[in-house]
Amino acid sequence: MLSAAQIEDYIKHDGNGIPGWFYQDDMLYFYYVSIVQMDLGVAGNICELGVFQGKSLILLGMIKHDTENLIGIDMFDQAAQNTVTENLQKYNLTAELLQADTAQCTREWAEDFFAGPVRFLHIDAGHGFFDVYRDLLLFSHVVADAGVIVLDDYNDREFPGVEAAVYEFCHHDGRYMPFLIGFNKIFLCAPSVMNLYQKKLMDTPPFSSDVSICRLFHHPVLIPSSRHGVSRDLILEEIVRGNTPAHGQTRTRDLDELSDLIGKYGQRNYR
Ligand SMILES: C[S@@+](CC[C@H](N)C(=O)[O-])C[C@H]1O[C@@H](n2cnc3c(N)ncnc32)[C@H](O)[C@@H]1O
Repeated sequence: MLSAAQIEDYIKHDGNGIPGWFYQDDMLYFYYVSIVQMDLGVAGNICELGVFQGKSLILLGMIKHDTENLIGIDMFDQAAQNTVTENLQKYNLTAELLQADTAQCTREWAEDFFAGPVRFLHIDAGHGFFDVYRDLLLFSHVVADAGVIVLDDYNDREFPGVEAAVYEFCHHDGRYMPFLIGFNKIFLCAPSVMNLYQKKLMDTPPFSSDVSICRLFHHPVLIPSSRHGVSRDLILEEIVRGNTPAHGQTRTRDLDELSDLIGKYGQRNYR
């Protein structure tokens, strides 16, 4: 892992001119989620689907520990891959770069390719519904139990497939739920560790003020840099209140069941 000063410098200077679609707020959330993982003892490799020129892969390389591997998968040609290697080298970083179309990757290939679990998976390859849903279904199986999956361009009106795929995946699969909504990324983890991540994130600088909380799939989701920030006490109360309904309770099938859940978890509108 690079020093805090080096990481903060990269974030402060917006990736030092490396082209890409990775914004400062999200860089900060990547950094602090990784610090929380360290606190929680979550170990594993780091993997990115969709590398382009390496703007986000570099930050992932900076937060990687010496015992972990950094893996970048992209359809890039050799020239584009060389650009990524050169960009990584500017920070003395290396990665295992794989030229592949994730739509062609199979479960058997993934089991063979990934030597160990992934603690941080960034999905930023194809942005269509089927691309994202397939990447989620396939690559979520290599993620560590307490690991995190981050998806790019959630809530971007140009890419409605991302949001639809996240909904479909969370609703039907149930192993991962949103716990944090960044600038244009959404962060998923297992419901069983959601409140651990959230409580620890609340002690980090980006969450010191202007944080809001909403409920998705009956789980609380943090929204930092919110225009509708609420008090820290209220957020901590919601985090505890929303603590992990068992799988299955996350699906609401009718009005009576929904009324029960509203009675149990409350329905609040903080605006
Ligand atoms: C939005 S860019 C990634 C941006 C990068 N993560 C950053 O922060 O700068 C998307 C990348 O995904 C790659 N890509 C798109 N579809 C893909 C697929 N099915 N399999 C692998 N890579 C794909 C493209 O080649 C492109 O480099």
